[in-house]
Parts: sequence; structure tokens; C-alpha cells
Amino acid sequence: MANLTPLTSAHTPQFRRALLAWYRQHARPLPWRECPSLYKTVVSEFMLQQTQVKTVLPYFARWLEALPDFTALARAPESCVLKLWEGLGYYTRARNLHKLAQTLVARSEIPRAPADWRELPGIGPYTAAAITSITFHAPAAVVDGNVVRILARLTADATPHKDGLRAVKAFTPLADVLLNRRHPGDHNQAMMELGATVCLRRNPRCEICPVRGFCAAHRAGDPETYPRLTAKRMEQVAIARGWCLRRGQLLLHRAPATSRRLADMHELPTADQLGLTTDELARTSPLTVKKRGITRYQITESIYAVPPPKPLPADLRWVPVDGLDAITLSGPHRRWVRELLG
Ligand code: ADE
Repeated sequence: MANLTPLTSAHTPQFRRALLAWYRQHARPLPWRECPSLYKTVVSEFMLQQTQVKTVLPYFARWLEALPDFTALARAPESCVLKLWEGLGYYTRARNLHKLAQTLVARSEIPRAPADWRELPGIGPYTAAAITSITFHAPAAVVDGNVVRILARLTADATPHKDGLRAVKAFTPLADVLLNRRHPGDHNQAMMELGATVCLRRNPRCEICPVRGFCAAHRAGDPETYPRLTAKRMEQVAIARGWCLRRGQLLLHRAPATSRRLADMHELPTADQLGLTTDELARTSPLTVKKRGITRYQITESIYAVPPPKPLPADLRWVPVDGLDAITLSGPHRRWVRELLG
């Protein structure tokens, strides 16, 4: 029979013990957890921002093989770093990780405190807490959407939080109180593991939860109703793109090196990049229509066959189809191109 003690400060030691014992027995054997090092922890935490473990696994293995330490990463050309990241999306993460390696290699000492890590490229509160707690046993609690979900259920918190960021702020004090200060790294990873494998957004697996005895939402029988987040309004965006294949070469747009989000990445050109209006591009039925969601945007991209523009705009280039593997194409575009090439 599970312990049905409410989660009050008097019971936090039992909560910590139950969570840690479960983690030590049930943690998935992930490659950054076996023989952990600062480098593996940093690379995995960057990859795991906005991306699930199962997606990250093959990227992590290839990365460690090609760039085994901070020195190798710091010295690598950016094109190599972006190529290894290709398909993971949110490429700013790869550029920041590259800059971070260069910063650390240039320093005489590696910082150990979360506040010092937050000064470094690409490091927010979550990543600073994760890296320093796992590597240096710093007493810093991680709080992200998964942790918010666990804490909102433990406390049956009915506050309607306006967005994820505000919910993270609201739950940080409780996460700090619950943190196991003797084992902060394992405690944080246990919270991540619980959120990823047990305290799921839909159909939480309360029957196997090591801390259900402390959980007010489990007791009330309505865990799925937490956390209460005010629904975000999605914005619809339509993009028309051109497909131009001539003599084994595909016409692609290459973003300028100064582009914050897409520097040097290739994509199928938009109407604007082809020097056309959307109506001019969309005279025929699309070859394919793709939908994807990015943050609060619901994007519909329609791809149309077009003749080559004359003259060729400077940021468009012909790429031989058999050379596509050698260039950096953003992840969805590589899938669409493969599909359209049949
Ligand atoms: N998500 C973020 N960091 C993680 C980690 N170290 N293990 C599993 N999932 C994570």
C-alpha cells in the first residue's frame, strides 16, 4: 500500500528518498549517464532542450564520435558542427554550444556555480542547474515543463498559469524545497525521468509512480487536469515554396551567414526569394502540402513546381542532387526533398 502522506515540509525527506530509490533502480541507461563527464552532460543538455531523448540518442552518438571533447569541438569549423546537428532543429543551440566550447577552452578554470554558467552562451536557468548539479553537485533544482507537471499534480495546484515560463517561476520555490541537497544531480535526473516515463501529460502511469502517496492529484483522481495552463492562441501562417529541378540539380536558397536562426542553411526557396508573388507561384496545384507547429505558429507550407527564375537571384544556388548530403539542409526540408525526389 502506497504511503498516503500529504506533501508537506515534514514529509520531504520521505519524498526525496522514495524518488531517489526509484531512480537508482529504474533509470534508463542513457549514454550520458554511463561514465558521465562534464562534456557529455553539456552536449546532452543542449541537445535535450526542446527535443526528446529518443530523437537525441543517434545524434549524441555521432557527435561524441566526431567531436569527443571540448577541445575538438572548439577547433571544429562551424559547418561541421551544423552538419552534425542537422535535423535536430533550433540551430542556435549548436552555434551556442560551439561558442561555449571555445569560451571554456580559453579559460584557465571551469566555473562550478550555476550563476557563473548562466553567463555562458546558450545557458539558461534550467541548463545551468542541470549541468552544475549533475557534474559539481551544486544545490540547484531544474524546473521545466515536465517538472512543473509533476509539482502541479503533487500539490493539485489549481492556479491558471498564463504560460509555461510563468508556471516555471511559480514552481521554482517548491522545486528548491524538495531538492535533495546530498544528491542534487540524481534528484534532478529523477525528476526528469519521472516526467518522461511516469508522470506523463496524458495517461499518467500513477500505478507505478514512486511518489503517488504524496500526490494530491492522484488522491483526487484527476492528475490529467494539472497543470492548469491558459490555452495559448495559435497563429496560422501560410508559406509557398518553389520546387525547381533541372538536369539533376535542385534550386535552393542559402540563408546568409548573418541570419540568426538559419545562418548558412539551405531551404526550398519561398515565393519572395524567387522574385514572385505567392499568387504567381501558386498557379498550379501544389506538389505537396506540409503542416508543422513551431512554438505558437501553425505553419502550412505548399510546394509548387516552378521554372527557373531569370536572372538567378544571388542567394539561390543550384545543388546537384547527388551532392545534397554534403550541404546543410534544415531537417523538414531534407525530408520533403527526399520525398519529392521519390
Ligand atoms: N532532459 C533534460 N536533461 C535530461 C537528462 N539528463 N536525462 C534525461 N532527460 C533529460
